[in-house]
Amino acid sequence: MGLGIVIMAAGKGTRLKSRRAKVLHEIGGKPLLCHVIAAAAQVVPPHDIVVVVGHQAEAVEAAVRNTGVRFVVQEEQRGTGHAVQCAERETREYDELIVLSGDVPLLQSGTIVALRDFHLWERAAMTILTARPANPAGYGRVLRKRPEAPEVTAIVEQKALRAGEEDVSEINAGIYAFRREALYRHIGQLRADNAHRELYLTDVARMLHEAGERVVAFDAAQATEVLGANTIAEMMELDRQLRMRAVERLMAEGVSVYRPETVTIDPGVEVGPDTVIEPFAQLLGETRVGSDCRIQSYSVIRNSTLGDRVTILEGCVIADAQIEKGAQLGPYAHLRPGCSIGEGAKIGNFVEAKKTRLGAGSKANHLTYLGDAQVGKGTNIGAGTITCNYDGVAKHPTLIGDGVFIGSDTALVAPVVIGDGAYIGAGSVITKDVPADALAVGRAQQVTKEGWAKNRRAQQEARKGQS
Ligand code: UD1
Ligand code: CA
Repeated sequence: MGLGIVIMAAGKGTRLKSRRAKVLHEIGGKPLLCHVIAAAAQVVPPHDIVVVVGHQAEAVEAAVRNTGVRFVVQEEQRGTGHAVQCAERETREYDELIVLSGDVPLLQSGTIVALRDFHLWERAAMTILTARPANPAGYGRVLRKRPEAPEVTAIVEQKALRAGEEDVSEINAGIYAFRREALYRHIGQLRADNAHRELYLTDVARMLHEAGERVVAFDAAQATEVLGANTIAEMMELDRQLRMRAVERLMAEGVSVYRPETVTIDPGVEVGPDTVIEPFAQLLGETRVGSDCRIQSYSVIRNSTLGDRVTILEGCVIADAQIEKGAQLGPYAHLRPGCSIGEGAKIGNFVEAKKTRLGAGSKANHLTYLGDAQVGKGTNIGAGTITCNYDGVAKHPTLIGDGVFIGSDTALVAPVVIGDGAYIGAGSVITKDVPADALAVGRAQQVTKEGWAKNRRAQQEARKGQS
């Protein structure tokens, strides 16, 4: 059996009142469409996934191209039935098709597999994934031939419900399996004679049933799994659920999360046991945190790896960083992308670093900028040190060895090299390389004039007496 998956993702998402295509809106840190593709890709290889794009097609394709899926373009968005019509050529090689909605992002791959198996077992022409949410309003309703039997006679959209049909609690999740040949033999007969003047894929259910084909419902979805994201409020609710799931998983794995409703943790984040996460922390993207760490409030950590026993004090902003065990950052430290912080090293308050390596046990404790810098082991970077890495045209590196002492308020004008064990006097502007074990002082000589201030005050008093 050849199985392909079609994902409908061409719609505009009028109800969002947004300029951005609906499937590009993010929940759990990723566009809706990425969640759907991820679930589909656990069932078939990406080459067997065909995404129907249309509204902002280029942006949508660009956002998910790296997944290896194929695309077809639905130039004009004439409804879900039309979206599937557009995928006819691209799906020729398959016997069976699963059709997913790009805006039903919490769907689990296990449910797709169960739908496929039920569909094949039932030898159906069309199988509709259904659920019974507490509030079915807004969804298409699935009409069964008899309540206890799987056969379906039709799907009725919310706006077309007749008296009595509102009571039908079984909704169409927008997820289907089709015998491809039956689908495309009938889909050409769809008519846009409905409230939205669109070709509804849901009408295929009635058409197939009336043609004597077997159409069945598979009531297996968790109600939350099939929630659609049609409005911003619905999306934020799905986002909350995804991230709450992530927090609950971490707590089950031995992580203490205080006030879990306040933290934001993306689904892909991993955290070791005995780590403590304080209120309002955010762990985003592909972040990995070791054991026995402490992530304090208001810190935002993105795509970073933290070893064991790392402490992130309040208010740090960290992106694309590698932080070795026992290091301590913050409060209010800012690691821009490309930093690596060695074992037991310290980055203190109001320190910014970019593309910088700080060796084991080194410290930059206060008010410093380190850009394009390589710092060895056991080096102390004094308060207010600045690497002047930009000359207005290009960026230059600063290399600082092991066991160096950089006095406070030093400007290191790159490119510059400070040898191991060197000492830089406070307030220096260092423009030339400093050899190992040397002292460099680059500042104006201090001038001290004994009694100068006292004399000045005496002159002022004398002038006042004259006037
Ligand atoms: C659809 C179903 C409804 C079901 C609900 C479940 C129809 C007519 N109705 O309604 O029965 O309960 O999903 O969530 O199908 N799309 C295209 N091209 C188009 C139109 C839509 O690719 O021309 C895509 C959209 O981007 C979206 C998906 O199809 O990802 C569903 O479209 P949407 O307009 O959200 O359908 P619903 O009104 O939610
Ligand atoms: Ca929808």
